[in-house]
Amino acid sequence: MIIDTHAHYDDERFNEDREKLLLGMKAKGVDIIVNASASVQGCFDSLALAEKYDFVYTMAGIHPSDTADLEKAGVFEQIKKIAEHKKCVAVGEIGLDYYWDEPDRDIQKKWFVAQLALAKDVQKPVNIHSRDAAADTLDIMKAEKAEDMGGIIHCFSYGVEMAREYLNMGFYIGVGGVVTFKNGKKLKEVVEYTPLDRIVLETDCPYLAPEPFRGHRNHSEYLHMVAEKIAEIKNVTKEEVIRVTRENALRIYGI
Ligand code: NI
Repeated sequence: MIIDTHAHYDDERFNEDREKLLLGMKAKGVDIIVNASASVQGCFDSLALAEKYDFVYTMAGIHPSDTADLEKAGVFEQIKKIAEHKKCVAVGEIGLDYYWDEPDRDIQKKWFVAQLALAKDVQKPVNIHSRDAAADTLDIMKAEKAEDMGGIIHCFSYGVEMAREYLNMGFYIGVGGVVTFKNGKKLKEVVEYTPLDRIVLETDCPYLAPEPFRGHRNHSEYLHMVAEKIAEIKNVTKEEVIRVTRENALRIYGI
């Protein structure tokens, strides 16, 4: 059975059929879903899903593009409280995003550091979002000894050199629909380089649906196509990819 290690089922694009979709997942071969938080409201919505469905787990964390909200009094304390919840298995998604480049990099960095410290506090792994910010992300994670918490570099978008750095720190590489894209050459190289016991499957749904559904709403069932592509790259069976990535996910999240 497949584990989706990073999804956004609280997204409004699932409003019409969320329950039907989630309850149908087991029949499609997906039995555990870890829903990521991005915004403050998302943290609460994601927790509500984890409390409603036994096979859904949550994370607590504010996406770098939303970190200005952490400047408001009391917000960080709310996130901390969710992070301590028994169905919260990680702090995420946290990191740096210089593609959208808002808010100011100083604010993004400040709250990245604070949320890494939160993970250490609650003794949970991290789920890292890093886009066009390779050097600063790695510098901060090294300075904050992120290897003590461990976790996943979600939607990995850098090359083999950067993958090596994170693998050396004990991190896992999150692989999703991009690996099936024609222009996904860089990620294919990373998958080829990374040992299977350090890769996890993730949708980041509703975003990043794999081929042939690219551009459509993504959901966890499509991870079969991602597993197939990884199997092809690593010359193993799809079943082997599903089995090993599942063990990885259980190990990281302590489920
Ligand atoms: Ni995400």
